[in-house]
Amino acid sequence: MTAAAPAPHIPVLAEEVVHALAVAPGETHVDGTFGAGGYTKAILEKGAARVFAFDRDPLAIQYGEGLAAASGGRLTLVPERFSRMRQALAERGVDEVDGVTLDIGVSSMQLDRAERGFSFQADGPLDMRMGGEGQSAADFVNRADEAEIADVLFHYGEEPKARRVARAIVAARPIERTGTLAELVRKALGHHPGMKKDPATRTFQAIRIHVNEELQELEGGLEAAERVLAPGGRLAVVTFHSLEDRIVKRFLKARSGALPAASRHLPARAKAGPAPTFDAVAKPIRAGAAETEANPRARSATLRAARRTSAPAWNQEGASR
Ligand SMILES: C[S@@+](CC[C@H](N)C(=O)[O-])C[C@H]1O[C@@H](n2cnc3c(N)ncnc32)[C@H](O)[C@@H]1O
Repeated sequence: MTAAAPAPHIPVLAEEVVHALAVAPGETHVDGTFGAGGYTKAILEKGAARVFAFDRDPLAIQYGEGLAAASGGRLTLVPERFSRMRQALAERGVDEVDGVTLDIGVSSMQLDRAERGFSFQADGPLDMRMGGEGQSAADFVNRADEAEIADVLFHYGEEPKARRVARAIVAARPIERTGTLAELVRKALGHHPGMKKDPATRTFQAIRIHVNEELQELEGGLEAAERVLAPGGRLAVVTFHSLEDRIVKRFLKARSGALPAASRHLPARAKAGPAPTFDAVAKPIRAGAAETEANPRARSATLRAARRTSAPAWNQEGASR
């Protein structure tokens, strides 16, 4: 029997993203997270001359080959992490683009395939690597010490009982299957039928974020976008939980010169920071009722967008002012 094909990924806030990108005919755009190509298709339909679509997942790139072939040379697929956007574009002779979009997290194709090991709902090998490289989820839970596991669960999963879960993980090692991990988390935290959220949700999110270095990638992607966007270029970023949204919000606040002083009890800084690299920072946009009803994934999505100024990109010290 062959496994049922996973449901296709439904793009989230696609209309709003394309609107924020204000795609004009003839422009060059970067889709940092190609996935099933929903945003890329919409950007091409708006008349972009070139789209460079990144994905660290070789299967997503493979999936996009038909679209690239049909695009008449307008779509270039880039099998890279988006934090390497600047170098990867330079290698293709491009140093400035008119728009960059990032749709953070995993696609439905990744989540729904049990063999990718992302899901606590279907049993599969404990993998969770988007790009298939680096340490897997099994490597992490079987090798890290208890304190490190607890830290990851607390910071990336916001799991209030991180220590209890970490202790249960260490006691049950080796763990090789998603089903085993999900069951032991449920046992450690208590699971009652009818509970709104599976208690394993936070642990799985935390481990996925950790093994894929997702928050570091997001920070690197924002800094790369700042460097490749031409003056007047647009940035649109969709995130799915508060940890990611906080990073985007702080980045845009800092880069638009709107970051409040570190403490209101201290006098204002004498020295002004670098000139703002972004303006026209839009209010966060969330999916409307019709979209969240049709696509539950959209419920937690937040879109933030801004426009690049002509000021030079900040260095890391500037960013932490
Ligand atoms: C939420 S999906 C994108 C869906 C896409 N917007 C669409 O409409 O089909 C996220 C995709 O980004 C990829 N991805 C996540 N982090 C990445 C990174 N740091 N660099 C490149 N691709 C990444 C994942 O492999 C996944 O395919």
